[in-house]
Amino acid sequence: MRRIFVGLIALIFTSCSTSFGPYRTVPMAPGEDVKEHVKTGKKYMIATQGRYATTAGKKMMELGGNAMDAAAAVSFVISVERPQSTGIGGGGFLLYWQPGMDEPMAYDFREKAPLLGHPKMFLDKKGNEIARKSLDGIFAGGVPGLVAGVIEAHEKYGKLPLATVIEPAIELADKGFPVYPELAKALKYKADTLAKFPASKKIFFKKTRKGYVVLEEGDTLFQKDLAKTLRAIQKNGRDGFYKGWVAKAIVDEERKRGGLIRMNDLRRYNVKKRRPVSGTYKGHEIFSMSPPSSGGIHVIQILNTLEPLNLGHYGIQDARTIHYTASAMQQAFADRARYLGDADFVKVPIKELISKEYAAKIRARIPKDRALTKEEVMPGKFEGYESPETTHFTIMDAEGHVVSSTQTINGYFGSSLVIPGTGIVLNNEMDDFATKVGAKNLFGAVGGKNNLVESEKRPLSSMSPTIVLKNKRPVMALGTPSGTRILTCVAQTLMNYLEHKEPLLNSVAAVRYHQQWYPDELGVGEFGLKKEEEDKLRKMGYKIRHKNLGCRIQAISVEDGKLIGVSDPRGQGMADGE
Ligand code: GLY
Repeated sequence: MRRIFVGLIALIFTSCSTSFGPYRTVPMAPGEDVKEHVKTGKKYMIATQGRYATTAGKKMMELGGNAMDAAAAVSFVISVERPQSTGIGGGGFLLYWQPGMDEPMAYDFREKAPLLGHPKMFLDKKGNEIARKSLDGIFAGGVPGLVAGVIEAHEKYGKLPLATVIEPAIELADKGFPVYPELAKALKYKADTLAKFPASKKIFFKKTRKGYVVLEEGDTLFQKDLAKTLRAIQKNGRDGFYKGWVAKAIVDEERKRGGLIRMNDLRRYNVKKRRPVSGTYKGHEIFSMSPPSSGGIHVIQILNTLEPLNLGHYGIQDARTIHYTASAMQQAFADRARYLGDADFVKVPIKELISKEYAAKIRARIPKDRALTKEEVMPGKFEGYESPETTHFTIMDAEGHVVSSTQTINGYFGSSLVIPGTGIVLNNEMDDFATKVGAKNLFGAVGGKNNLVESEKRPLSSMSPTIVLKNKRPVMALGTPSGTRILTCVAQTLMNYLEHKEPLLNSVAAVRYHQQWYPDELGVGEFGLKKEEEDKLRKMGYKIRHKNLGCRIQAISVEDGKLIGVSDPRGQGMADGE
């Protein structure tokens, strides 16, 4: 059939080759074993960015649980295992599909601005941004939504008790685990900021003869306070976090440090059940996250723009394929800056942005042989209408239940602030708001009016948990961390699989690229594309910059009745199933 046998591809990953066939792929991350990153199963499959997380998900399945039980266990464990990426002090989105539904259900448990939040909260008296105020410390944190979201989705669709699905996370936090390379790197990178907050230092540093130093690879990370907080949630459910001693500890720290979150913010936190955005690509139905994420809209917009071009004829990394794809991305980011925000607060022209008609207009403006400059790309005009750190996991079973969820505290260790006595790392999701019109966020994306802070608004996201169906049966599901790159990495992986018909592992491992309008450059994954294709792109006017794009796709596909799981070879993670 369409795909080269996955096992053959796997062999390639045992060498350090970065190229085979007509295009480039990445090698396995150092120390990672391809056998843990690619799996085939018949009953279920789980792909996450953590070994303990995948193992906990499997355990739920073995206990008779379903995909949502596994998803809840994975969510809590990954919060412990990747404190640099996600946590109960953060938020996320989750798409769920089960046979019989009309479309997947989208759970929005994104952080919210506090009631006292306002558009000028990150500006000084002259209207200038205050450096790093939206990134480090108490002001950077939005009202966390993860605990409420995971519990609400699990209560509705899970089979096992909450006490069971949360237990593996408590054990891991209590007993600790060795610091692995990605965590060690993040700790080193954020050591100076973490050191400013005593409760962060208590967890992530060790005492040596030379004084306190940040934990290194191989040291054990214990999170005893976090275990206590998780036990409170185990006992009292959502109230264990949003009321009682945990809530009081959060609000005490906010008051002490001049933050804005109050008890009322925690009590009022509400999960939103939303309709996902949807589109089609050559007979497949694509469902992805709706606002406050920009991700789903722009994944669909990019696919719509590319669909009639039949790029499969050129090949996955041919300069023409890259040119059209990069141009589609560029337009998506111009529209993102202009229109996107929390659709509960501002009008977002969703229908127009994901329409095939708009895509045809975008396509018509792309020259055949040269790159568009950023000045040439303007947001679309719609009649009647006046903006990496994170984690993703995907779970699927043979009956066709699918969970695709992206969860985050935003930057490495979020705000770097741990709420004393709780082990909760507070997110810095407030940076995903535009601190002022035209300001750039952590990922360099330009922010617009629609994404200014407002009381109880949710900051714009790029997270794109995605599910693909054909004839109401799952074909694939995927997602990734990495800020604004999320949506372009998801769009490319979908194109590699659905248009170029590459095997899932290759679709994930192919070197990727990213164009986000500003800056005017084509980011190319650090292993680069073939020289002759890069030369052609340079001649077209592309300014190529090799850089780490940060995406770590976690994908599952269904092929000939089998479930194929791939955890991106670029990072640590594990796909496993039965
Ligand atoms: N914090 C990254 C995102 O939501 O896109």
